[in-house]
Amino acid sequence: MSQARWRTAITDHVNHEPYLRGYRLVDLVGRHSFAEVAYLTLKGELPTPAQARMLDAMLVAVIDHGIAVPSVVADRVVISGGNPLHVGVAAGILTFGEAHGGAIETAARILQETAAQEGDVADLARERVAQARAQKERLAGFGHRYYKEADPRTARMFTIAREEQFYGRHCALAEAMAAELKAQTGRSLVLNVDGAIAAIISDMGFDWRLGKGFFIMGRVVGLIAHGFEELTRERPFRRLSADEIAYDGPPPRA
Ligand SMILES: CC(C)(COP(=O)(O)OP(=O)(O)OC[C@H]1O[C@@H](n2cnc3c(N)ncnc32)[C@H](O)[C@@H]1OP(=O)(O)O)[C@@H](O)C(=O)NCCC(=O)NCCS
Repeated sequence: MSQARWRTAITDHVNHEPYLRGYRLVDLVGRHSFAEVAYLTLKGELPTPAQARMLDAMLVAVIDHGIAVPSVVADRVVISGGNPLHVGVAAGILTFGEAHGGAIETAARILQETAAQEGDVADLARERVAQARAQKERLAGFGHRYYKEADPRTARMFTIAREEQFYGRHCALAEAMAAELKAQTGRSLVLNVDGAIAAIISDMGFDWRLGKGFFIMGRVVGLIAHGFEELTRERPFRRLSADEIAYDGPPPRA
């Protein structure tokens, strides 16, 4: 047994050459797509064509969603303060929390824990939504500021999940929970892109703790593009305009 303090099963070097999960890296270059090698890096095995298509579809679905979201605002504001590209991109990634991108992790945990219980998905969905309501819990993966009827990215990814046979118990449970949320709250809390990815990666057998990673992998491309656009097209020092600010502290005083 090795006594080394730093252990890894990801990359090794043999004869001054890198080997990723046992494959010579340069043999992968030009032969496998980025999504295929990302799958290998995360899961340890090369994907089937279906697994590669599904992962690729999820990465494309989250690649960008416009300038208004917290991560892009942070990215561009940090660059606008006079910082280089990577600092803005890092700032954008740091915004990924429960409300933005980060919901994949919690949603996948909820779906995996719930789907592991015995019973019909409709019954499990009803009980889990009732529990969330009783505890005033915001269910990760549901609801969207912009999409009130349906998140188009969810529908497209579920189409591919069905085509590639990844629409399983977790996807069905996620859809049943969205229907239950509507029935129990009267609100249309759509299954959003995070919830759909959470369901699909769960049906693909990924650990829920990898959840945020799928969002980071895809969205980092959008963050780079926005950071570059800010650097090359805008003047530095963005600031809020007076009509965006309301001071409601004490008036001037001695
Ligand atoms: C994404 C999100 C911030 C959008 O919010 P929004 O549409 O602007 O809605 P609001 O935050 O104004 O909330 C409106 C009401 O719906 C409820 N609600 C919103 N999302 C909910 C959810 N996922 N589960 C339960 N209730 C929810 C709120 O509690 C609030 O109820 P109240 O008026 O009784 O207080 C919100 O739906 C959410 O937090 N979802 C969970 C996190 C998530 O999946 N994020 C990924 C987004 S892609």
